[in-house]
Order: sequence, then C-alpha cells, then structure tokens
Amino acid sequence: MKAEHPQAVNEAPIDFSAHTMTEIQRVIDLFPAGKQKSAILRILHFVQEEFGWVSVGAMNRVAQILDIQPIEVYEVATFYTMFHLDPVGKNVLEVCRTGPCQLVGSDDIISYIEQTLDIKVGETSKDGMFTLKTVECLGACGYGPMLMCKYKFYEHLTKEKVNELLDAMRDASQS
Ligand code: FES
Repeated sequence: MKAEHPQAVNEAPIDFSAHTMTEIQRVIDLFPAGKQKSAILRILHFVQEEFGWVSVGAMNRVAQILDIQPIEVYEVATFYTMFHLDPVGKNVLEVCRTGPCQLVGSDDIISYIEQTLDIKVGETSKDGMFTLKTVECLGACGYGPMLMCKYKFYEHLTKEKVNELLDAMRDASQS
C-alpha cells in the first residue's frame, strides 16, 4: 500500500469536469506507457483553467489519475509561480521584481498597486477583482517595469498606465 502524504488524508480529491477529464486523458495518451507523470504540468494547467486555482484536493485527484504520490504533484505545483495555490481574483497581476525591472522602478509599481487596491502582495482586493503577485523574470527585461495578466504582457509601466490598466480590467470584467 502506498504511503499517504498527511494533506492527502485531510483533503479529499475533488472531481473534474468531463471536459477537463477528456483533455487530461488526451495529454496522458501522448506519453509512452509508464511515463504518464510527464503530463503533470499540462494537467495542472487544465485544473487551473477549470477552477481558477489549484487546491490540495485537486492535486490529490491529479495524483490519483497519474497513479503517483500526492507529494509529487505538490512539488511541481509549488515550484512554479504560474500555479495559484489559493483562490485568486478575476485578474491576477504578476509583477516582475527581478533586477532589470527593479532598476527601472518595479518596486514603485508594486507599491503603487498595493496602495491603489489597498492590498499587499499575495492578497486579493475586497471586490474580488484583483490579486497581486510578484514573480521572477518573465523574459521582457528590456521593457520593464512590466506585469503579466492572463498571459498578456503590460510593459513600460507608469502609475498612469497602471490606472488605465486597472480601469480597463474592471470594465472588461463587468461587460
Ligand atoms: S527582469 Fe523583468 S522581465 Fe526580465
């Protein structure tokens, strides 16, 4: 019998939608027998697309599907900042805080977003509209300060651009 991670006992695996299960099986089938674990990153993306974040229950279900230990899923999900391990707002603002962006003012942008939304890094605004995260280099080092939201880059940020961006995201979320 497999040893269980303590959290695996505490949080029951959750079910995924039929669509997510179809996608998961499609990706698993791309790998040779016995190598299904290699599908883990793509599967975690499917899970996040369905729920908006990746809960322990969801990770436990992924472990069941791949027939691996839950800890193997936790290790991957916690390594990459792109996976949200807590519920997030409709828009997740991921601000790069690595050296080149820092040199051109990413700290000021992070502080300004914190003030404007009345949250700290890692928190979600009261209206559920925004979550602020900081991340390491996103590969747009010549265009800082920058942030990513929904896989889209927003570059050369200023306070004015941040205001415009937040307004546009509020409008888009209400329409
Ligand atoms: S340092 Fe910010 S994108 Fe590379």
